Amino acid sequence: MKSMGCGFGKIIFFGEHFVVHGSFAIACPLSQKTCVEIQKSDFLKIISDKDVPCDVLDLQKQLIEKLLSLLRISDNKFSISIISELISSAGMGYSASLCVATARALSDYFKLNLCDEKINELAFEGEKIFHGNPSGVDNTVSTFGKSILFKKDDFVVIQNLKIKKSLNIVVVFSGETGNTKTAVEKVNKFKELNDKSWSDLFVEECEIVTQAKMVFELGDLEKIGLLMNCNHELLQKIGVSTQKLDILVNIALQNRALGAKITGSGLGGCIIVLAKNSEQQNNICLEFKKLGYCSFTTNIEKTL
Ligand code: MEV
Repeated sequence: MKSMGCGFGKIIFFGEHFVVHGSFAIACPLSQKTCVEIQKSDFLKIISDKDVPCDVLDLQKQLIEKLLSLLRISDNKFSISIISELISSAGMGYSASLCVATARALSDYFKLNLCDEKINELAFEGEKIFHGNPSGVDNTVSTFGKSILFKKDDFVVIQNLKIKKSLNIVVVFSGETGNTKTAVEKVNKFKELNDKSWSDLFVEECEIVTQAKMVFELGDLEKIGLLMNCNHELLQKIGVSTQKLDILVNIALQNRALGAKITGSGLGGCIIVLAKNSEQQNNICLEFKKLGYCSFTTNIEKTL
């Protein structure tokens, strides 16, 4: 008999990187998921649907060993199959969704009946294997599948986001993968070397996220777009954009999108584009496809 668990992908709307240093972030789930199936076997076997490099396979093995150890389980005679709709290392929350899916599949296989809070806790521990010092925002969205306002502090703050109007989003993959750990370390270095400008940028980011929270509540799409553009500029300043990502943002804006920015850790990966309506959303998505980029549409549903 097979046991199974899934975790959602995510987009970060506002606050990536700054959230690692204590700002709020706004993040939303994608309908695309990663699922993990477990069944009995003679030895621990990992089968991935993706051609993952050896080092990622090794991280996946470390993830399973860490989760088993946290759950105080010594039986590792099972095979684990990973099936994901997400592109890995693209800012879509592949690793977090893998951690959540694995924790859920283990809970199912060993009949532990773990609650979502415990799954989230385990996934956060798992994320440390992939990212070193994660804020916890990715695994939280991946576990609960809701749009949230998130802050890492002495204790974590998680609030469901109030959204008055649903949002028509296009996600565009630059074709270049990015490594979250490398990007987070690059930002740490920037912070170390540019103390004063980091403080100013941090204050600006906090202001953007505070405003964004209010604007989501009011349903002012144009303002959300402007805030996205401002957030992209901040990410450029801390050094996590690339020429390709900037080109993609410009293409989106030339196509009259309301706003566009990096989503996730950058240095490759994806941008998100906010369209005025579903017609423009489809046109922009098609335009990127014509240019040879992998792109798809997704909607962030209203919650009010
Ligand atoms: C990665 O999806 C988001 C970052 O802010 C890292 C983190 O929050 O752990 C770059």
